[in-house]
This record gives sequence, C-alpha cells and structure tokens, in this order.
Amino acid sequence: MPRLIVVSNRVADIHSSNAASSGGLALAMGGALKEEGGVWLGWSGKAIDKGDSPPHFETVGKVTVARIDLSRRHVEEYYNGYANRTLWPLFHHRTDLTAYEQSFRDAYLDVNRTFAHAIRSFVQPDDVIWVQDYHLIPLGRELRALGVDNRIGFFLHIPWPAMELFISLPQHADLVWSLFGYDLVGFQTEKDLKAFCDYFETELDAQPDEDGLMDLFGRRLLARSYPISINPAEMVELGRSEKAQESFRRVCEGNAGRKILLGVDRIDYSKGLPHKFAAFSRFLERFPERRGTASLLQIGQPSRSLVEEYQDLGDELVAEAGRINGRFGKLDWTPLAYHTQSYGRDALAGIYRAADVCLVTPLRDGMNLVAKEFVAAQDPEDPGVLILSRFAGAAEQLTEAILVNPYDKEQCAETIAQAIDMPLPERIERWRALNATISRSSLSAWKDDFMRDLRALKDQRNEAA
Ligand code: UDP
Ligand code: G6P
Repeated sequence: MPRLIVVSNRVADIHSSNAASSGGLALAMGGALKEEGGVWLGWSGKAIDKGDSPPHFETVGKVTVARIDLSRRHVEEYYNGYANRTLWPLFHHRTDLTAYEQSFRDAYLDVNRTFAHAIRSFVQPDDVIWVQDYHLIPLGRELRALGVDNRIGFFLHIPWPAMELFISLPQHADLVWSLFGYDLVGFQTEKDLKAFCDYFETELDAQPDEDGLMDLFGRRLLARSYPISINPAEMVELGRSEKAQESFRRVCEGNAGRKILLGVDRIDYSKGLPHKFAAFSRFLERFPERRGTASLLQIGQPSRSLVEEYQDLGDELVAEAGRINGRFGKLDWTPLAYHTQSYGRDALAGIYRAADVCLVTPLRDGMNLVAKEFVAAQDPEDPGVLILSRFAGAAEQLTEAILVNPYDKEQCAETIAQAIDMPLPERIERWRALNATISRSSLSAWKDDFMRDLRALKDQRNEAA
C-alpha cells in the first residue's frame, strides 16, 4: 500500500489537534495527514550532545511520527542559523537582518543529509514523499543522490523572494538547482510563483512552459501555486467547545461596552507587530473621542527565542505596549492587552468570535492562516471585520477584507475607525464573500490538489520514457 511521507522540520503534537503549536505549517500538516494517514518525519525539538540521531517512531491512529534529535551544533547552525537567520529573513525581504555564514550553510546541508538517510532507511518503492518548507529545500536532491527514485514534491510555506534580493544569497544558484531534485514544487501564491519564474528568466534565460513545466539540469520540474487553507468546519466545531465558550465569555466580560480589536501572531518581525502597535497608537491620538471605547488584545505567541533578532523584537514590543498604556490608559481602561502566551485552538476559536475587528497586518507572509481562521469562527448574524495586509499571501484570495498597507500608519489608523463603525449589512456582505472563498478551498482540497498533480506527473514521466 503506497504511503504518504510528509517531511518538515517542525512536527505538531499528534496527540491533540487542539494543542497550541508553533506556527501554521505544523497545524496544517497534522490536519492534512490525519485524514489519509502516513508517516510524518521531522525534528524532535531536542538538541543532543551526540551527533544527529536516527528517527524514533511513534504511531497514533493512522499517522506514524518519526522524530530525529539533532546535535546541539546543528540546532544552532542549521535551525537558529541558516533556516532562521539566513533564509527566513531573506525570503521575508529583510536583507538587513540576513546572516551569510558558511558554517550555517554547511550545517544546513548536513542536516538535510541526515533527513535523507533517515527517509532512505524506511521508504518503500511506491511511497510518495512530500517535503515542507525552507528548512529542507535541498532534501530532494540529497534523496536522489542516495538513489531514491520515488515521487517527491516540495511545498514552500513562506514567500519566494524578489529576484534582486534572492541573488544576494551566496550559492543561490545551488539552492535553486537543488529544487530540481523534486518533481513538483508548490508555492502559496501566484506572486511567489512569478518571483520564482523571474529568477529563471533573468539568471538562466529559461522559463517554464504554460503548464508550469521546466526542463533544466537534466530533470523536469513542475512549478505551481497551491494556496494553503484551513478546515472551516473544524473551526466552527472548535467554537462550540467549552473552552471556546469560556474564552468568548471572558473576553466579552473583560471588555464590556467596548469594541474588541484582536491580533494573533507569532512574535516575528515579519508580522509587523511594531507597525500594528504604532497604528493603534495613532488611532488613539487622532480620535481622542474614541479613547476608552475600544481595546486591542494582541496575542504574541513566543517564537525562536534563541535568535537575537527575536529577543530584541520581544523586548521592543513589551516596551511599546507599556508606553501606549502609560500614555492613553485610564483608571478603568487598559488600551492594549499584550499576552505573550500560546492559546489552544479551542480557546482561540472563542477569542476570534468575541472580536469585533481582527488586525492581520504582516509586512510579508506566505499565507497567514489566522486571517482564514478568524473568518471561519465568526457568527454569520453578527460577523467581525477583517483588516488584512496586502502583503499577506491570504490577500490574493480574501479580497473582501479591508486591505491595508501596514507601513502606512495613517491609513491603518483610519481603517481601524472604519472597521469599528462598519454597519451590520456591510459586515455581513463582506463576511459572506470571505467565508464563501474559505469554504471553497479546504485544507483537504489543498492537499488533494497537490497530490493529484504530483501523482499525475509521474505518469507523464513514464509516458515520456
Ligand atoms: N496559533 C495557536 N495558538 C496561538 C497563536 C496561534 O494555535 O496562541 C495558531 C493559529 O491558530 C494558526 C497558526 O498558529 O493556525 C499560525 O499560523 P499562521 O499561518 O497565521 O502564521 P505562522 O505562525 O505559521 O507564520
Ligand atoms: C512558519 C514556517 C514554518 C514554521 C512556523 C513556526 O509558519 O513556515 O515552517 O514551523 O513558522 O516556526 P518554528 O521555527 O517554531 O517552527
């Protein structure tokens, strides 16, 4: 029986679909795998004093999770280093924060080899391998070097950078070449796909054909976009849970008589949190009569706290929240509640529903699942308003949100006022359109679309042979 083998750096807690986990990828993959079953290989999250370990297997229901412990040096240089201090900032257009260290790159390739050897030890001839995200770009090529001839797909959860920035990466050509170890490479949006194609056009004078197929380096690659989504019905279901009802009640009671603005983000510089705080502050400055009538609840999920840029951002946000509360707060009103905690998804479902406005304002984001979850969690009779950055991948689909430029503080401040005042019929109209989009594109449809194309490709190669 052919199995699906999913590979990602981060693996979610498979014992609970509700546990607050780190980021959208792990939650989405957990959801996608639960239906079909298969093997999920990733890093255990542990740093050990010895070299990288072989995988430890654990089976829960239809999913077998295989976890690899990584050496302390690899965690530092591959995860904190190349993944989170080189590729992450570069792909999010933060060349000012990008570190180009040869040792990081060496560790990145080493860990990709560790993963390749682990897969080779258990892969069966008909298995389909699906590799996730920037941590593992070279994995396909490493698998091919070990003689693994299975169908292998790759999906990038973060944006693909503009060509001019991408070429600042030493060995960028090698990274792109390594993608040709895959049969299918998927991106979140058409814009990412276009940026990827721009690279080939400019650097290699090559272009995919109209179907997205490209023959280069002696291999054939299909490149397409597959916008990731959520299971809207699951969000509705979570909203009925006791935890959701409790969080809904507590948020409403704590803000009685006030409008609730909400933000839910990892503490990451790509999420534009300082810009969001500045926009909220500007809103209070420009509309003094509105002080005391609205509060911002910002959930900041701790992330990558061993990386200095993340520590600095964390400190900056605590200080800024303090300044805003110090400047505008009243005895009976705290303008900005900033919680640096993770919430379970059931509690989040209630928090989303309690909010009048959700501010999803990243400076650059692959997709942003929070935007979709917020829409799915709303009461159809009295839905909240989504303010969405035009630089989130989700903006390509969620066009009925109020789209903003997060760098434009004045526009964002005005938009907050507009969202708060939006009449019910307009809220309903926008929400219906957004919800229809989300309902059309579920998480399972995302996985099925990718898998269908990956499986079809193999046939095509066989026919060509
Ligand atoms: N999330 C969570 N608990 C929290 C904050 C966020 O479970 O306290 C989840 C949220 O429901 C969403 C994911 O984390 O599914 C974040 O995904 P998104 O695509 O918005 O951003 P990422 O963190 O992956 O960049
Ligand atoms: C984003 C990335 C994921 C990553 C997640 C959380 O969603 O695309 O690959 O897992 O952030 O980051 P972390 O470093 O905690 O895994």
